Amino acid sequence: MVLKIKDDIYWIGVIDWDIREFHGYETPSGSTYNSYLIKDEKVVLIDTAKHYLVDELIMGIGKVVNPEDIDYIVVNHVEMDHSGSLEKIVEISGAKIITNEKAKEHLELHYNTKNWEFIIVDSGEEISIGKRTLKFIRTPMLHWPDNMVTYCKEDKILFSNDAFGQHVASSERYDYEIEDIFNHAKEYFANILLPYRMLIPNVANALKDLEIELICPSHGGVWKEKIGEIIEKYVEWSSDNVENKAVIVYDTMYKSTHKLAYAIAEGLIDSGVKVKMYNTSETPLNTIMAGILDAKYVLIGSPTLNTNVYPPVAKFLKYMEGLKPGKKIGVAFGSYGWAEGATEVIKEVFKKLNFGIIEDECLTCKFVPKEEHLKKCYEFGKNLSTKDI
Ligand SMILES: [Fe+2]
Ligand SMILES: [Fe+2]
Repeated sequence: MVLKIKDDIYWIGVIDWDIREFHGYETPSGSTYNSYLIKDEKVVLIDTAKHYLVDELIMGIGKVVNPEDIDYIVVNHVEMDHSGSLEKIVEISGAKIITNEKAKEHLELHYNTKNWEFIIVDSGEEISIGKRTLKFIRTPMLHWPDNMVTYCKEDKILFSNDAFGQHVASSERYDYEIEDIFNHAKEYFANILLPYRMLIPNVANALKDLEIELICPSHGGVWKEKIGEIIEKYVEWSSDNVENKAVIVYDTMYKSTHKLAYAIAEGLIDSGVKVKMYNTSETPLNTIMAGILDAKYVLIGSPTLNTNVYPPVAKFLKYMEGLKPGKKIGVAFGSYGWAEGATEVIKEVFKKLNFGIIEDECLTCKFVPKEEHLKKCYEFGKNLSTKDI
């Protein structure tokens, strides 16, 4: 698919309808690898696609120009979802690579770059490609140390690479056409950019000086009518502000921890706290993280198995630990048989993440909780928002 987004500027990305896993991120809606082509005195390709879609990418380029005629390839980011097709396209075109020093170093660690020609740019540098000027702004750690964005001054387009992306495969290209685009963008933020969120305000600041008519990310839809909103959302998501919302994440062996979870949830709902509950065996980790992003309370429940946490919960805890969400109030709960263990493991993770911890004796239960115990769990949920840490 090819779409003209401005005169002589084209979206020529590849839609990956089939991808369901992206470095631990489940992608039930697929994804896209967005490349862009600018036809000026120089023909410029901005970013490429995963290696297994190189033929589709070259076919798209061929609808606009002869792929041999590409003069420059801008590499905003070396991760292989954007650089995987480079070797073949450089081989066909002999194009020079425009990138920064760090990205060059990363490219050399990924590919045989011996015969590649590089034009190295620093943050703020500009290159004329004819009628147009491309300006490069470094955005390290959004998503890797090598990241940068490219701004086309005359057309007021920001090619933002991973920033502002969404994992969604769609035949539609613009923000106003893609269903649930903000939910896709939020999930992407919570699972890709969250650990580096403290850098977002600087980027938002740098963008304030640019007139932007289109934000063209490297995944998902192009922002055209909702640019102000998505920048605002990024500032909000990176702020660590929370809603009066609890996310309960749990798993269960014989329904005992399940009963505790449901009783606590009921109490929370009755106290007016918004609740989301996820079973770790049934829910993608990334869906849970999107829920946690703006939640005040994170309640994690696990049965004890061999004095440890239940494996699907352990997987989630490791995932969450790496993403370093902002400060929350943490509650650990779960049933056990002859020895406790799971809640201690959960609390250790809360401590590493600097969560406040609320404890109560009703939160653990030997074998099966009786009605009296569940009443206490209900009361605990009902009163949680009044407790101090
Ligand atoms: Fe990336
Ligand atoms: Fe990416």
